[in-house]
Amino acid sequence: MLFTLKSVIPFCLLLSLGMAVISCTDALPEEKGLKDWSEFPIGGAVNIEAVLEDAKLQQIIKQNFNSLTATNDMKMHHVLDADGTFVWGKVDTLVAFCKKNKQHLFGHTLIWHEATPAWVTEKAVEDSLWLRDFLKEYVTTYVTHCKGDVVAWDVVNAAFESHGGAYRESVWYKVLGKEYIADAFRYAHTADPSADLFYNDYNIERDTIKLHSVLKMITALQKENVPITGIGFQMHLRMDVPDETIAYALKKAADTGLKIHLSEVDIIFNTHNDRKYGGQQQYETLTEEMKQRQANKYKNLVKIYRTTVPKEQQYGITFWDFTDRDTWIRSFFKLKDWPTVFDENLNPKPAYYGFVEGLKEQL
Ligand code: G3I
Repeated sequence: MLFTLKSVIPFCLLLSLGMAVISCTDALPEEKGLKDWSEFPIGGAVNIEAVLEDAKLQQIIKQNFNSLTATNDMKMHHVLDADGTFVWGKVDTLVAFCKKNKQHLFGHTLIWHEATPAWVTEKAVEDSLWLRDFLKEYVTTYVTHCKGDVVAWDVVNAAFESHGGAYRESVWYKVLGKEYIADAFRYAHTADPSADLFYNDYNIERDTIKLHSVLKMITALQKENVPITGIGFQMHLRMDVPDETIAYALKKAADTGLKIHLSEVDIIFNTHNDRKYGGQQQYETLTEEMKQRQANKYKNLVKIYRTTVPKEQQYGITFWDFTDRDTWIRSFFKLKDWPTVFDENLNPKPAYYGFVEGLKEQL
């Protein structure tokens, strides 16, 4: 039972004390979830083995999402073994799970520096021609295997540095130049012409220099007729990013005419330096006031998406991990935070209801 009285009552009490602005008068009927309030797909990122072992997670997923993304299971270092052979087990399990639950599977991600195995980097440095061939073969084999099952791909992820306008000095860029990006899109499109193909990146909702550099690249790809469908804003958001800044970024991106996917949404209170274990703890506990502020931020994010991105370009919103129990933020940054819409006990937070309000509000 997801929306039990037990989970709703404390929130209502809070409201009656006059502390909250997000209303719970519309407590959701049990059979309804986020996807049912939305005109665009709502997704969640999952670790498929963990999901299969956890009935409550499965219930949340079925109730709320019509799209799934793998947090790690579809990355290069997970699907290739040490001699370069594809290991399809988890990919095929994800495909079967999504088919059974009538959910889209979003492929994350074909080319990402962090998921490039060390042996690929070593060979690439020795032999640039090898990397060129490997790129073509990897993308072609992978997308062909998933043809018709994976509806969309983050073809290239985070090809720019965390901040500023420079291409990331990854092995792909250093050995092949920026052309590897266009090539990856072309290979993916040839392998499955019906798949939607995205360029995905982070900090572009708040770093305007990075945003403009990414958009310059996107415009160049469009001019060269590279088959790109959309732009993914990872949207690992911080409470202190002004709504106006987010709106500006989404508007600029939508001006390209491409679809816009909020692909990895979460909202933190603390900060970090974008690097592993780089968390900077400012808030030690989550207060009711913070929960309400976060609920409003989620609500505003949905409203900004709905009002800034034209309907036909709204590809959807995907949560990156969706419980404070499982969030990557805590282990990756060594940071105690509460970035998601479900709490440690997998009950919906005010953030969940804020998100619903953002979906439901008449604009
Ligand atoms: O599986 C090992 C475990 O055996 C070991 O004990 C533990 C010790 O640290 O590490 C575990 O692996 C971790 C893995 O997640 C699985 O939990 C890695 O250290 C950790 O680096 C890895 O982090 C993932 C990260 O990508 C890097 O691959 C996060 O789960 C995942 O959420 C994150 O996802 C990325 C997106 O793909 C792209 N956008 C940014 C986003 C967040 O970094």
